[in-house]
Amino acid sequence: MIRSICLCLLLGLAAPAALGQPHDIDAGTFQCIRDMTPVRGFYVDNLNGEAALEGTLEVARSESGGVYPPGSVVQLVPTEVMVKRESGFNAATKDWEFFELDVSPDGSSIRARGTTDVVNRFGGNCLDCHAKARPEWDLICEQTHGCDPIPLTPVMVRAIQKTDPRCEPVELTEEEAQMLKALGSFGS
Ligand code: HEC
Repeated sequence: MIRSICLCLLLGLAAPAALGQPHDIDAGTFQCIRDMTPVRGFYVDNLNGEAALEGTLEVARSESGGVYPPGSVVQLVPTEVMVKRESGFNAATKDWEFFELDVSPDGSSIRARGTTDVVNRFGGNCLDCHAKARPEWDLICEQTHGCDPIPLTPVMVRAIQKTDPRCEPVELTEEEAQMLKALGSFGS
């Protein structure tokens, strides 16, 4: 017991947050998707603060790709998240941790998290798809990086982002409302 406490203290001292260690990541880490910073169709953030977010944005906005810095958070839809962990976290996922969330007006809960074995609610393995992104894109797919496409159009994605139940409600366009109806996301 005492030994493990000492080990924690030592590790804590050896790895200050300033060196890019994301804080403990739990359900409370994930909030309204639209409070993150939009880049083209997706959203980014960095768990290590404003200065670190600059590094994330630089890679996200680059036309030639790059390696996302630790603490980077990337989301396209409210329920699926990629977080760039500390260097050495997992070679197969290029240090990304994948999350599958449940979201409600009360917040987020984590259905699954991890590296090579996380599947989404449709049974798809995150890494299987994202690994197809060409190497310069650091597992980020978008529409043109070499991944197999997902059956969501940009309008559907926008509508799903706008109806994140953790956010303040916003108006949908007629087209977005139609798309959501077609997707069957709502009982209406
Ligand atoms: C069937 C393949 C497939 C599976 C399975 C899949 N994704 Fe994706 N994901 C994609 C594609 C393709 C995009 C880009 C879609 C677009 O921009 O239109 C994407 C986009 C994303 C993005 C936005 C950044 C990017 O890569 O463009 C994140 C974050 C993400 N997915 C996380 C996950 C997580 C977490 C899981 C597992 C819980 C997962 N995905 C499962 C194919 C997949």
